[in-house]
Amino acid sequence: MTKVLMVCLGNICRSPLAEGILKSKVAAENVTVDSAGTGGYHIGEPPDPRSIDVARQHGLDISMQRCRKFRSSDFEAFDLIYVMDNSNYANVLAQAATEAEKQKVRLLLKEADLGITEVPDPYYGGTKGFENVYQMIDSACSAIAQKLNRS
Ligand code: 4NP
Repeated sequence: MTKVLMVCLGNICRSPLAEGILKSKVAAENVTVDSAGTGGYHIGEPPDPRSIDVARQHGLDISMQRCRKFRSSDFEAFDLIYVMDNSNYANVLAQAATEAEKQKVRLLLKEADLGITEVPDPYYGGTKGFENVYQMIDSACSAIAQKLNRS
């Protein structure tokens, strides 16, 4: 079993999409996927309605997800921790206790070949940003799923 954690700032826009998208591409018997945020602004809330909508447009239901904060015990609980941007990366790495824990943390878009390494935060933008973000995350998750389904 490979355990994957998707992390962004709020855990209501980007990482809930990443959780839903990767889950849809892997076998549940082999891979578990969760998500969390480095900030604690929305704990217990469902994803942003714009993320729920864009996921639904692509046939995914993420409305049952609930926001939680990233915690240092996540380093033990997960094998791979994918972050959306450099700020998430710094915030998560700062909580790592060992080199092995640091090695678990990767920028999500480094898995895809898009020429960019950060998923932009769509929170303060319009709905168009959410489709853009969906496509980026989808590309990276396809690459991750291909590797995980092989292993
Ligand atoms: P996310 O977007 O990190 O993709 O979930 C955000 C959502 C909420 C906030 C920031 C980013 N916020 O400051 O409340």
